[in-house]
Amino acid sequence: MKRVGILTSGGDCQGLNAAIRGIAKNLYHYYGEQVQIYGIIDGYRGLINGEYRLMNKDDFSGILTRGGTILGTSRQPFKLMRVIDENSVDKVAEMKKHYKDMKLDCLAVLGGNGTHKTANLLSEEGLNVVTLPKTIDNDLWGTDMTFGFQSAVDIATHVIDCIHTTATSHGRVFIIECMGHKAGWLTLHAGIAGGADVILIPEIPYNIDKVIEYIKNRTKSGKTFSILAVAEGAISEDIAKLPKKKKKEAMANLMYPSISYKIAHEIEEATGQETRVTVPGHFQRGGSPDSYDRLLATRFGSAAADLIIKEQYGYMTALVNGKIVPVPLKDVAGKLKTVPTDCEIIQSAKNIGISFGD
Ligand code: F6P
Repeated sequence: MKRVGILTSGGDCQGLNAAIRGIAKNLYHYYGEQVQIYGIIDGYRGLINGEYRLMNKDDFSGILTRGGTILGTSRQPFKLMRVIDENSVDKVAEMKKHYKDMKLDCLAVLGGNGTHKTANLLSEEGLNVVTLPKTIDNDLWGTDMTFGFQSAVDIATHVIDCIHTTATSHGRVFIIECMGHKAGWLTLHAGIAGGADVILIPEIPYNIDKVIEYIKNRTKSGKTFSILAVAEGAISEDIAKLPKKKKKEAMANLMYPSISYKIAHEIEEATGQETRVTVPGHFQRGGSPDSYDRLLATRFGSAAADLIIKEQYGYMTALVNGKIVPVPLKDVAGKLKTVPTDCEIIQSAKNIGISFGD
C-alpha cells in the first residue's frame, strides 16, 4: 500500500484544487486500490496538530473548477518552525511524528516561498517530500510560472478595464493597486494587458516627479485621464536608497493605508486632477481558476504524482521553457524570483510609451 499526504499552505490561489485533483487522479490511475491519500487540514498547522483525514476517490471529483482549497490553508511562518512555542510544542518533531503516524511514503506540499522553505526543512529532516509551485505572485524561483498567477492577472486586468471606462467619463487619474508582495509580475502583466499608462513595480523604484511629469504631458497632449497600475510593494527611489532597516521603517510609517494612496495624494497635489485609488485586494486570489491555470495545475499535479511513483523525492515540479521538469527543493527554498529589469516585457512596454516612473 502506498500512502501519500497532501497539504496546501500559505495564501490560497486559484488552481489549488485542480492540482490536488491532478495528484490524486494520477495516483489512483497508477495504484488503483493500492494507494491511500491523507488530506492534511489547514496546511502545516494540521501536520503539527495531527489534523488529517483519509480521503476517498470521490473527494477529488468535481473540484477542477473550484476556487480556494478543499483542504484549507494557513500561514505558519518558517522563522518560527524551529521555535518551541508557549505550550512547549516542538513543531518539527510533531510534523515528523504525524507523518510517521500516517505511515506516509511521501508528503505532497502545494505552496509558495515560505511553504517551500519549510518543505525543504522537512526534506532535510528525512521526510519524503515533493512540492508544487502555487502563488498569484509568480515569485517562486526555479519555475517560469506558478499556478494561480494567470487567473489573478485576468482579474486585475478586468479591474483595470472597468476602471478605464469610469476614468474616461470623469477625466480622472486612477491607481489600481495590485497584489504581488515584493515582486511586480502581477502588476506588470495586468498593467500591460489592461493598457495602463504607468506601471510601478518594486523592482524599478519610481521617481514621483517623473510620474507627475508624465501625467502632465498626457494632459497637454489632450488625454483627459490616466491609469496607473501600482504594485503593493512599489517603492520610491528615495526610500529604496535607504539601508534595509531604515527602508523597512519608512515603508511602515507611510501615514497612508498603502503606497498607492501616497502616490495618489502626490499626483493630485501636483496636477490638480482628481485622483482615485482602487484596491482589488484578495479579489485577485478568489474564484475559479482560468483555463490556463486549470491546465498548468493539472500538469503540475500529474507530474508530482509521477515523482511519487518513481520515488524521486526532494523535488518541486516546475515549468521551464514550456516543459514540466523536477527542480531540487534545496535550490528553490529561500530564493525569490523578481522581475528582471532588463527583460523583454519591460522593454516592450517602454517601447510603446508606458512609464515605469524611472
Ligand atoms: O502571496 C500571495 C499574497 O496574496 C500576496 O500577493 C499578498 O501580499 C499576500 O498574499 C496577502 O496575504 P494575506 O492573505 O495573509 O493578507
